[in-house]
Formats: sequence, structure tokens, C-alpha cells
Amino acid sequence: MAELVHMNYLLVSVMNRFGIRLGFGDKSISQVCKEHSVNIDFFLEIVNSFHDKDYFPQKHLQGFSIQLIIDYLSKTHRYYLDEKIPEIEKLIDQMIIECYSHNEHAHFLKTFFIEYVNELISHIKKEDEKVFPYSINIENQFLNKKESENQYPTSSNYSIKEYLSEHNNIEEKLFDLKNIIIKYLPSPENQALCSKVLSDLFNLEKDINDHSRIEENVLIPKVKLMEEELSNRQKKT
Ligand SMILES: [Fe+2]
Ligand SMILES: [Fe+2]
Repeated sequence: MAELVHMNYLLVSVMNRFGIRLGFGDKSISQVCKEHSVNIDFFLEIVNSFHDKDYFPQKHLQGFSIQLIIDYLSKTHRYYLDEKIPEIEKLIDQMIIECYSHNEHAHFLKTFFIEYVNELISHIKKEDEKVFPYSINIENQFLNKKESENQYPTSSNYSIKEYLSEHNNIEEKLFDLKNIIIKYLPSPENQALCSKVLSDLFNLEKDINDHSRIEENVLIPKVKLMEEELSNRQKKT
């Protein structure tokens, strides 16, 4: 397991989402996964697709349960809102003081960041409160034929297609934020701090890209197939 971190230290945060913390000594991946009751196949697919952007086992990932996929996606939401965003916010505050002390426009950086955070919060809230419970409900109905006959019509006024059409690109604003620092603000007085913020923003952008890829290419097609199957079952009754 330690080798995974040596290969890509950003995987530490992915491991945290599975409840796996550093300090695993010489234990193998399978030992650590077993100890934490983590599905090793799912863990490896997530780790590999996070590490290598060209590796995306879409069909294989769709083979895992919606509950398992959503559990991972929800933990990723918590990581963004409870850990990464507060951390970056603190750095941006520090940056305005230490990097642009003579620039009267530097506080726009904070305003822009807050706008981004509000967008991210409402994006995540919608998924946590509407899309994910709906998807779990569809899977429950799919797995239990009897229940599905009674329950599907009540949820049929919403479809996962709606989510796909509205699934907005939350990385765009992050790109603009990076550009303010890279292009529009003057040279920073504290270059090291500025580099640290930029590298955090690049890493967050990569993480969110990976997250959205799972939502759009794994979760949505899987729920869509189940919706179709449930609707076919209904027609037959
Ligand atoms: Fe999400
Ligand atoms: Fe999303």
C-alpha cells in the first residue's frame, strides 16, 4: 500500500475517502482493504482511474452497486466541503495579505473564490439531497421486483436524464480563478505561497474532473439502464 503513495501522493486523499489512513507499514493493498472492509476491486479501479486519466474502466465500474459508487461520491463531496475548500480559503486570505499587500484589487480574489464555493455547495447539495437518494431508490426497486411495481410510478416524474442535462461544469470557475492569479494580478511578493495556492487549485480541479467523470460515465448510464428495465417491467404488468 505504501508504494501507491510513493507512486502518487494525491492518492492519500482518495484513500481517506475509503477510511484508510497513513501508517500501513509493509501491509499489502489487499491486507489494508480487508482490515477496513473495503471492496478491493472497487478500490483499485478508483485508484487506477484517479492516477491515470487514460485508464477509465467505464464498463467495469458500472458493474459495482449504485450504493457503493454513491458512498464513494458522497465521501468525495465531504472531502471538498469539509477539508479542501476551508484549507484553500485560509491560504487565499493569507495570500491577499502576504502576496498582494499593495494591490487594492486583490480582495476580488476572495470574492471570486466565495462565488465559486457557493456554486460548488449548491451543486453538491442537489446531488446529495436529490440525485443520490433517487439513484439508490431506483437500485432498490430494480433489485426487488415486487416493490418496483408499486413504487416506480411515484418517482417516474423525475429521470436521471434531467440530472445529466443540468449537470453543470463546476471546474470552469476554478479555471478562471487560476487565471486571475496567473495572468491578471501582479507578481506576488511571496512566490512560494502563491505556488502552493496554485498547486492546490490545480489538484482540486483534477480531483473534481475525476469525480464528474464517475458521475457522468458510471452512475448516470447505470441508473438509466435500471430506469429502462423498470419501465419495461411496468409495461409487462
Ligand atoms: Fe458530485
Ligand atoms: Fe456533480
